Amino acid sequence: MHNDKIQQIAQMSLYNPQTLQCNGETFKVYLTRQELQDRVSELGEELTGQYKGKDPIFIGVLNGAYIFLSDLMRRVEIPCEVDFIKLSSYGDEKVSSGEVTDLKDIDADIEGRHVILVEDIVDTGLSMKYLVDKLQKKKPASIATVTLLHKAEATHYDVQLDYVGFKIPTLFVLGYGLDFAQEGRNLAQIYILDKE
Ligand code: IMP
Repeated sequence: MHNDKIQQIAQMSLYNPQTLQCNGETFKVYLTRQELQDRVSELGEELTGQYKGKDPIFIGVLNGAYIFLSDLMRRVEIPCEVDFIKLSSYGDEKVSSGEVTDLKDIDADIEGRHVILVEDIVDTGLSMKYLVDKLQKKKPASIATVTLLHKAEATHYDVQLDYVGFKIPTLFVLGYGLDFAQEGRNLAQIYILDKE
């Protein structure tokens, strides 16, 4: 099959509605597939330049970061590894519970390794701060933090963000790995409530 045709089919098969209903609420597009793709490519290029010769290990925060991480890693053109960590989530609400609990630790030994910690979104900063402190105890050579989205005005924990995809207002977002009561992760774009 011709390459253009394959490309077209791949695009068409993505879940890309302009608006959608999720758990009884209407959502509209906020960041398009193209905007996400372009920014993820830029971040991948930056990381490629920064981590040459360092064999970094990406640590993705489950569940939300899995789609961003898989796109990001495929834009990183140096040898690297991946592992995952999981914290308790938002619950089924649109506001943070303010509590963090461990659900799954990493399996890899990161002592002396260069770690790239990948989050989908930093809201209050509690999860990222908790994770950096937790991983720091395992004595890595370095830890860099990457987040696709940063609700900068909502962040009140002291956390260093080294790579940020998009700084966004304090809005509830959905899609591209981010959920609302576990739904919507498979959306290829990022959505906000229609009434915003
Ligand atoms: P923080 O600990 O307050 O920074 O919240 C981080 C976590 O809350 C993220 O990893 C997400 O799982 C979740 N979260 C924060 N904001 C949103 C949102 O707008 N939509 C979906 N999940 C969110």
